[in-house]
Amino acid sequence: MARVALVTGGTRGIGEAISVGLKNAGYSVAATYAGNDEAAAKFKEETGIAVYKWDVADFEACKEGIAKVEAELGPVDILVNNAGITRDTTLHRMKPEQWSAVISTNLDSLFNMTRNVIDGMRERGFGRIISISSINGQKGQFGQANYSAAKAGVIGFTKAVAQENAAKGVTVNVVSPGYIGTEMVRAVPEEVLNSKILPLIPVGRLGEPEEIARCVNFLASDEAGFITGSTLSINGGQYMA
Ligand code: CAA
Repeated sequence: MARVALVTGGTRGIGEAISVGLKNAGYSVAATYAGNDEAAAKFKEETGIAVYKWDVADFEACKEGIAKVEAELGPVDILVNNAGITRDTTLHRMKPEQWSAVISTNLDSLFNMTRNVIDGMRERGFGRIISISSINGQKGQFGQANYSAAKAGVIGFTKAVAQENAAKGVTVNVVSPGYIGTEMVRAVPEEVLNSKILPLIPVGRLGEPEEIARCVNFLASDEAGFITGSTLSINGGQYMA
């Protein structure tokens, strides 16, 4: 039986590439999304991957959603915490709701999702938790106090949960992308992207979503069983942590 992989925010952007990469590697994949029904329907039609709609910021919704995935596909062996949003603005202009939206979707979601799969993984003696952080959680970013805080939190969460579950065959790791050519990065003002960001990437280009997906596939595999609590930076040399 194929292992089951669940990818949050798995129908668009980096998450879409991760879902497809895992499917191509032979996993049975479920992709969640929060709001964009049209994109999810297109993704499902093109890839044949099962899609589920719920808000990863809501603990009860995660509990119910995961139960549904497990009833339909089987127990979740691989969880990819990928769902994330930005509400970029400088701190002196940031509203409480811009702070809370980013913290709850990008960080609370790790608790909400992981808490609801961890018991099963521990009982079965196998699991892979892979969470997507960001270069901006490692180095900080102008205009992203909320996002940088949440993405740094992803790394702390991972190091703690990795220690707790290492003896149970469950590895817990972070993939930390730099600037990847997705809708989220294209939303950055072009002038800022060209003058402040691209010149700082030694490889000289934005990354491709598939370059992230390949690393997720590796961390999900049996071969990666000795890697836990680690952060794999994939950023074209922009920041060497
Ligand atoms: N470093 C230093 N100064 C910067 C800067 C930076 N990175 N970005 C902007 N500034 C400066 C501008 O040059 C400008 O200075 P002047 O007034 O002297 O010209 C000043 O800050 C104001 O900039 P804006 O005109 O852009 O101001 P704004 O209020 O309209 O917007 C902002 C501010 C929302 C922060 C906007 O600059 C922005 O969106 N920046 C990009 C933030 C970013 O990189 N987000 C990453 C999104 S992708 C992502 O999150 C995925 C991932 O994980 C990598």
